[in-house]
Amino acid sequence: MAIEKVGVAGCGLMGSGIAQVCAQAGFPTVVREVSEELVAKGLKGIEKNLDRLVEKGTLSAAERDAARGRLRGTTKVEDLAGADIVIEAIIEQLAAKREFWKALEPLCAKHTIFASNTSSLSITEMAMATGRPGRFVGMHFFNPVPVMKLVEVIRTIATEDAAFEEAHAFAGRLGKTAVRTTDRPGFIVNRLLVPFLLDAIRALEEGVGTIEDIDNSMKLGAGHPMGPLTLLDFVGHDTTYSIANIMFEEFKEKRFAPPALLKRMVMAGWNGRKSGRGFYDYSDPKNPKPVKLL
Ligand code: 3HC
Repeated sequence: MAIEKVGVAGCGLMGSGIAQVCAQAGFPTVVREVSEELVAKGLKGIEKNLDRLVEKGTLSAAERDAARGRLRGTTKVEDLAGADIVIEAIIEQLAAKREFWKALEPLCAKHTIFASNTSSLSITEMAMATGRPGRFVGMHFFNPVPVMKLVEVIRTIATEDAAFEEAHAFAGRLGKTAVRTTDRPGFIVNRLLVPFLLDAIRALEEGVGTIEDIDNSMKLGAGHPMGPLTLLDFVGHDTTYSIANIMFEEFKEKRFAPPALLKRMVMAGWNGRKSGRGFYDYSDPKNPKPVKLL
């Protein structure tokens, strides 16, 4: 069954990026948020992104208008009912996600694929909240979604081959490179990335280098687009802390354990760029300054 219509749940950072990419790829897309304010905020962000692409000459004004025309915002779960695939990017809490899938399940056709964008919660556990574990997958996008070329497509022991391959092909139709992986915390990217990021914090704690020297080392010595401490600020410390805890709980390996400094920064609300302070101070967002931490 070819996917023609898309539903996206959540229009925050990830959901809005996913909705934008789906609409740009030619799919009529309904995106649902819990309040009118959040719908308006998410759609405004997408419009700004599309305008920027027109300014840069990446997109014509007609293509922007067509993409925007394919997007519809809503607060009603019922409006996702006509979709052939629903991609969920709501708050990273298992109870909230299970509740959402339970509400959606009776509204959708049998063929509809359910896909969660979770970065670390169990796809299997979510799939079991629905009556369609065979058509439940993970589709993990990366921030910023319109720029990052990868989607991890995740299967559980209950996912049917046909649904998995449809989701994999769909990611390709969005212009992304899709990789196949299984339902283990962190999948492929975070399994490798998170211990590296945690090690960068440990290196800072141990005085191996300053914030700037650690970041410059990995940027200029290893060709990373961002240094690890800048990337932690970009992802959000609360997010990394939560992923690390879930991975540590599963694998019981020290390399996944969140360092004390990360925990303290989360306790202090210093969650990175979005809170104005992390390893850097973003009072002047164009010119972040390293923070004195230790
Ligand atoms: N939305 C849309 N486009 C954006 C964007 C955004 N939020 N941020 C940057 N861009 C575009 C810019 O417009 C620019 O486009 P152009 O080349 O056509 O002009 C391009 O991206 C490059 O941007 P900049 O020149 O401003 O800055 P950089 O060259 O530093 O690139 C970056 C920015 C793409 C964010 C780059 O630094 C990068 O790739 N960083 C690493 C990001 C990363 O690792 N993300 C994954 C995080 S892990 C994750 O998401 C998983 C989760 O589970 C935690």
